[in-house]
Amino acid sequence: MKFTFFGHASFLIETMGKKLLFDPFITPNELAKEIDVDAIKPDYILLSHGHADHVADVERIYENSEATIISTYEVVGWFGAKGLERGHPMNHGGAWDFDFGKVKLVNAVHSSSMPDGSYGGHPAGIVIKNEEGCFYYAGDTALTKDMELIGEEFNLDFSIMPVGDNFTMGVTDAMKAAKMVKCEKVIGVHFDTFPYVAIDKEASMAIASENNVRLTLPEIGQTLSL
Ligand code: NI
Ligand code: MN
Repeated sequence: MKFTFFGHASFLIETMGKKLLFDPFITPNELAKEIDVDAIKPDYILLSHGHADHVADVERIYENSEATIISTYEVVGWFGAKGLERGHPMNHGGAWDFDFGKVKLVNAVHSSSMPDGSYGGHPAGIVIKNEEGCFYYAGDTALTKDMELIGEEFNLDFSIMPVGDNFTMGVTDAMKAAKMVKCEKVIGVHFDTFPYVAIDKEASMAIASENNVRLTLPEIGQTLSL
């Protein structure tokens, strides 16, 4: 699998010949100016929840591509009502076999409303499993004991977790989350975009190494082979 970081909690996973875009928030992000949003043509757009810092560029990228939106019933329904009809609604605990592998929506402890303030359902984490591997994207979440269920069910190759604190887990809780999901390879996201989520990278890496977690804090535009 290939991971490319677009800043904040937005990234592309290339797997099984498909492009999966997660939580696109690129054009409003001052730090992501170098990313050409119109060059991103995913097969699927996966959304953890409805907050603007996760869905800002959905419409633009949808119109530029043949992408199908995968998210909760409420988020897919909100985009559907705007005319973005290629959607696959799911809900927590449910799994579905797509042409790139299995998707399971799992619990996240956070909030979710759409950019216009309407109800965004419950926020989700996303687990993807296929012949190339298995990973967990935590979305925006607090540390929660429910993460142990993910470690029990799946044999994860890597996790993508928020580490910016204030709105989500900070790095210390993300280390506990890594232990709960039984995967020491963590890519940190949701940091440095705004002053509220600014982190000390060096201190964060030190906390990770004390916890025997292999933490990566990717640069915007960076691609990792996983
Ligand atoms: Ni959020
Ligand atoms: Mn967020």
